[in-house]
Amino acid sequence: MTQKTQQRFLGKTAVITGAGSGIGEATATLFAQEGAKVIACDISQARLDALSRTLEAYDIKTCAGDVCNGKVIEEIVKMAQERIDVLANIAGIMDRFLSVGEIDDSTWDKVIAVNLTAVMKLTRATLPIMLEAGHGSIVNVSSEAGLRGSVAGAAYTASKWAINGLTKNTAFFYGDKGIRVNAVAPGAVKTSIEAPMESNLSINRIEPLMKALMPPTAEAIEIAQAIAWLSSDEAKNINGVILPSDGGWGAV
Ligand SMILES: NC(=O)c1ccc[n+]([C@@H]2O[C@H](COP(=O)([O-])OP(=O)(O)OC[C@H]3O[C@@H](n4cnc5c(N)ncnc54)[C@H](O)[C@@H]3O)[C@@H](O)[C@H]2O)c1
Repeated sequence: MTQKTQQRFLGKTAVITGAGSGIGEATATLFAQEGAKVIACDISQARLDALSRTLEAYDIKTCAGDVCNGKVIEEIVKMAQERIDVLANIAGIMDRFLSVGEIDDSTWDKVIAVNLTAVMKLTRATLPIMLEAGHGSIVNVSSEAGLRGSVAGAAYTASKWAINGLTKNTAFFYGDKGIRVNAVAPGAVKTSIEAPMESNLSINRIEPLMKALMPPTAEAIEIAQAIAWLSSDEAKNINGVILPSDGGWGAV
């Protein structure tokens, strides 16, 4: 069966952040094709407009704005009209591979705000709806950088390890209330994420390791498929897991 003939999310509402590009775009597309009503969020109105055009045959609403902004979070929840079956926290940014000795406060604050704090706030805003329904699935996007210390800068690495902790803690607290919380940890994926290596330390220490050990770059749909599976009833016994989708990088 191809993914397009499955309808795992028929009648379900899925909130997907970072839906304008890369992994978020692939996930929004897959969910829409599988019957979900998709609420697609991204900071880029232009990217959301393009997504809406591509998915015009499907049930999709868009919310343009910064996921760090409380008003945008309120708007997302309002658009869902008291129903959120799936929340996929995908929006994220990188940190130019800056080590702790090189990073400036604003880069640190921004990366933590988008990759971690916004995920906590959107999860917090979504939980009452899931608790009322007695079910829900949340999938966060971690990273290979959340499995080891040698693939990104200090802020990105810290944000992704923290996402793993938030995932497990939320899974623990709400698992007995019908809410599952898992994360996917991708290796390198072909997307639009900006990842300039502006650190000499990283050029000397990380780049050679990546060249030697990194498996081939994956397509965004491969990560979307893992997110969809974890979100679906097929994974109803899976809670609190950080699932690598990294071509075996984690096995090195
Ligand atoms: N691409 C990779 O190799 C890779 C590897 C591991 C993890 N990830 C993670 O996957 C997730 C998706 O990244 P991607 O590679 O698809 O990147 P991408 O840049 O292609 O897509 C991310 C989307 O998020 C949006 N976004 C960024 N900041 C936002 C904000 N504050 N509010 C709302 N939307 C915002 C961007 O506009 C963009 O459309 C991120 O969490 C990233 O850390 C990516």
